[in-house]
Amino acid sequence: MNILVLGSGGREHTFTWKIAQSKLTDNLFVAPGNAGTARIATNVAVAPDDFEAVKKLVIEKQIDMVVVGPEDPLVKGIYDYFRDEEELKEVMVIGPSKTGAILEGSKEYAKEFMSRHNIPTAAYQSFTADSLEAGYAFLETLKAPYVLKADGLAAGKGVLIIDDLNIAKQELKKMLVDAKFGDASAKVVIEEILSGIELSVFVLTDGSDYMILPTAKDYKRIGEGDTGLNTGGMGAISPVPFADSDFMRKVEERIVKPTVEGFAKDNIDYKGFVFIGLIKVAGEPYVIEYNVRMGDPETEVVIPRVKNDMVDLFLAVANGTLNQKTLETDPRTATTVMAVSGGYPEAYEKGKEIVGLDKVTDSIVFHAGTSQDGDKVVTSGGRVIAFTSFGDNYRSALKTSYSSLNKVCFDGIYYRKDLGFDLE
Ligand code: AMP
Ligand code: GLY
Repeated sequence: MNILVLGSGGREHTFTWKIAQSKLTDNLFVAPGNAGTARIATNVAVAPDDFEAVKKLVIEKQIDMVVVGPEDPLVKGIYDYFRDEEELKEVMVIGPSKTGAILEGSKEYAKEFMSRHNIPTAAYQSFTADSLEAGYAFLETLKAPYVLKADGLAAGKGVLIIDDLNIAKQELKKMLVDAKFGDASAKVVIEEILSGIELSVFVLTDGSDYMILPTAKDYKRIGEGDTGLNTGGMGAISPVPFADSDFMRKVEERIVKPTVEGFAKDNIDYKGFVFIGLIKVAGEPYVIEYNVRMGDPETEVVIPRVKNDMVDLFLAVANGTLNQKTLETDPRTATTVMAVSGGYPEAYEKGKEIVGLDKVTDSIVFHAGTSQDGDKVVTSGGRVIAFTSFGDNYRSALKTSYSSLNKVCFDGIYYRKDLGFDLE
């Protein structure tokens, strides 16, 4: 089969690495990819949300399957675009239809979906500029801190958690009236605060059956001890030690099953990954959010622990035969540590030469923000390289990841040294 992976980050390098190992793969392309994917597949300079250009590429390279990495093309309807185009109809797309992708594209839609299907989540109401006063009144009924969420996609910045009621009211006004997050905050979801520990559960579904992939925990803040600005993710650990079998049984019964059944009941065509952001509150799982793709850097620990042939699983997803497959997982723990550009997630420089990659032997190096510049590999993004390692527990795996990272250098390199600190 000829396969095209869309995207350019660590998640996509991991998919490419896994797909390249399949005996079902003939030719493998990545659009646009990075310096890591270029070593194991063919990069093509096409943007994943330029559907016309993707179409041209798919026809030219006779692609049989498209694996969609990021949410953007999904929310813009790439799945539906393929189904509607005569020449693309037969091409398999791993990723949900637009009506499924709205679960990530609109917080309100996701909350309505959960409430319709009795899936445990924080109590909420949503507001627009016209109902600002009602929003103030709702805030007054809640306990601090206050959770305000821009309804639409806001590059991971649209959620505010505020201790003071008056500031929460001011921020609500800024979001609704002053378009703090542009169109994304024309509607705001206000939620009850939940306190507990977060983790992510990943599900692969063909729309009627599902497979629960290994759990993972990521570290989103830039600073040690989970302080400072939010990032895309500074590292991840799989499995999550506190997601024991009793907890996972609750997750499956109360969340995964009703979610997949909800797709069928709501006529949502969903063939892809569901990333369920959970919080464990006094032993009970609640959904914080849905994403309609794999997480990054969670993919860098979840996919290496999957022993199945990934293309075989994707074929089952596309053909609706996932019930015939059994997940095989590596029992070891996998960790990944992300090396980032100095200054990230604020302004940072690009084009710094990365040296030492060939010295890494004990970890898998997944490129995130890199590009090839002649015979040099240079930085081209905030998150640059993820170092994935295995171990008998997260401490030993992390030790290997850190020792590999220390063999690699670029000007301004930064990483968190305290991953797993909250699991002690
Ligand atoms: P979201 O984009 O919905 O995942 O929210 C971003 C982050 O805000 C989450 O990862 C949580 O850390 C936090 N968060 C969101 N909603 C809540 C809530 N209801 N209670 C506590 N924390 C929350
Ligand atoms: N690591 C979080 C995400 O992919 O959204």
